[in-house]
Amino acid sequence: MSPTRTALVADLGASLLLDLARPAPDDPRTLFPLPLRDVRLEVGCGGGEHLIHEALAAPDVGFIGIEPFEEAFGKIVAGVEAAGLRNVRLFADDAALVLDWLPAGSLGRVDVLYPDPWPKRRHWKRRFVSDENLARMARALRPGGTFRCASDIPAYVDWALLRTTPRADFRWTAERADDWRKPWAGWPGTRYEGKALRAGRVPAYLVFERV
Ligand SMILES: C[S@@+](CC[C@H](N)C(=O)[O-])C[C@H]1O[C@@H](n2cnc3c(N)ncnc32)[C@H](O)[C@@H]1O
Repeated sequence: MSPTRTALVADLGASLLLDLARPAPDDPRTLFPLPLRDVRLEVGCGGGEHLIHEALAAPDVGFIGIEPFEEAFGKIVAGVEAAGLRNVRLFADDAALVLDWLPAGSLGRVDVLYPDPWPKRRHWKRRFVSDENLARMARALRPGGTFRCASDIPAYVDWALLRTTPRADFRWTAERADDWRKPWAGWPGTRYEGKALRAGRVPAYLVFERV
């Protein structure tokens, strides 16, 4: 990270970053300094383009953005600061830690957008969409909340469906092919998606409802 961004992250630490050493509040909306109607979480925000777009589009919703890659995290902090967003909180480590920290039933949505595909079999255990993380997401989401997953890797889409559809706590909402072939309403795309599209890959957009 550049010295300027390192200084920015240090300056904004107390106000912008989640502190998991503290007990989680009963209502995660109180993590933000303004009244909000809901809290959503994005796993692996990359440079934060989607997170910032969403936070600007829904100023009455709180967004928790998680990105462990230091270089990308610095970019998110700079982007959130430049946009003057007060409805964003960030965490720079494994999203599983935040999902476990939050109270049960406290999130309205979890987005996992273009998770690292880990194509080699011996690395599959690193894939974010796993039985353990699905259980974490199911606990943190309230009934009626949604888990959205986008991927351009057909084997990962199959993997996510195979793990999610047998579960009693999630229901795949797709009724026709367009429901997973077309991006979601208001979708701004992501940086990674742009690369995938330029390479000719075709994304899938999965939405699961927390039952
Ligand atoms: C392929 S990139 C996609 C980034 C962004 N969502 C996009 O579409 O441009 C996957 C991101 O997930 C992050 N990531 C990987 N494991 C994670 C975890 N356990 N918790 C949170 N983020 C994670 C990586 O650091 C990386 O930035």
